[in-house]
Amino acid sequence: MSSWAIVGATRGIGFEFVKQLSSDSKNTVIALIRSQATAGQLNELAATRKNIHIIETDISSLSRLEETANSISKVTNGSLDVLIYNAYSAGTDEAKLLPPSAFRGKEDAFKREIDESLSVNLFQAVYTINALLPLVEKSQQKKIVYISSGIGDIPTTRATEMPNLLGYSVSKAAGNIIMAKYAVELKAKGIRTLAMSPGWVETDAARDISNSPEAFQWMLSSFQKMDPRVKGMISTEQSVKAQLSVIGSLDEKLSGAFVSHNGNDKDWF
Ligand SMILES: NC(=O)c1ccc[n+]([C@@H]2O[C@H](COP(=O)([O-])OP(=O)(O)OC[C@H]3O[C@@H](n4cnc5c(N)ncnc54)[C@H](OP(=O)(O)O)[C@@H]3O)[C@@H](O)[C@H]2O)c1
Repeated sequence: MSSWAIVGATRGIGFEFVKQLSSDSKNTVIALIRSQATAGQLNELAATRKNIHIIETDISSLSRLEETANSISKVTNGSLDVLIYNAYSAGTDEAKLLPPSAFRGKEDAFKREIDESLSVNLFQAVYTINALLPLVEKSQQKKIVYISSGIGDIPTTRATEMPNLLGYSVSKAAGNIIMAKYAVELKAKGIRTLAMSPGWVETDAARDISNSPEAFQWMLSSFQKMDPRVKGMISTEQSVKAQLSVIGSLDEKLSGAFVSHNGNDKDWF
């Protein structure tokens, strides 16, 4: 019997976590969503699987998060084995494709670009983790996973030579260091944390960024500078299967690390 909460569970990787985890009736899966507007496939799945519990919340609201912790507690009898923070912001449409020097004279746009991503990828991640931490502490497995991105990694940035996506990159790097801080703080309580890149995965988010043949080719050739074997995106199924294997092996030695879905800092794709 394991309980899991997935933050951002309507689509893409978050939905696939719900799908794969709920296929085992011994798992209790809490799908945390911000709105019903995009929850069609999640509702359909939940109608066929009694172990999926959908909870609407607002991760920017501390009071809603407290209510959410209470709602989860009622379902799981006061504990939560694994929390997966998967929600994210990609930055602003006006500025996400700009490199740092292009912000000369556009300092307000720079601030909006960074603030927008930090709000979800750092601040709300910490609010959510802190609200649910008492439940994690009372569980058997005691794991917290932050879905990050290789794009927030310095060696990956140097290898792929992608100069833009500043808000996304900066905020994911911030998320990585926060997960390492949680790991060292909570080690004595037996709580393990991890920042993990899911790979380049075929989802709405990845399609948004590579929404033309030119944009796709730019992403592909950037990634191929780092790993010539990359041919394109992997499926959500493949990514989540690999990520669940890494989460399964998350122990004190790995706690606080930033790894790929392959469980290391080399195979990012
Ligand atoms: N796809 C990739 O290639 C890739 C690569 C590296 C990292 N990642 C990371 O993987 C994670 C999932 O991305 P994805 O590709 O699956 O994206 P996606 O298909 O766009 O799905 C994002 C999910 O997050 C939810 N979400 C976003 N902001 C939220 C908020 N404030 N509150 C609650 N839910 C929220 C969305 O809900 P709504 O339906 O309500 O919008 C949706 O369910 C992200 O952390 C992303 O940075 C993805």
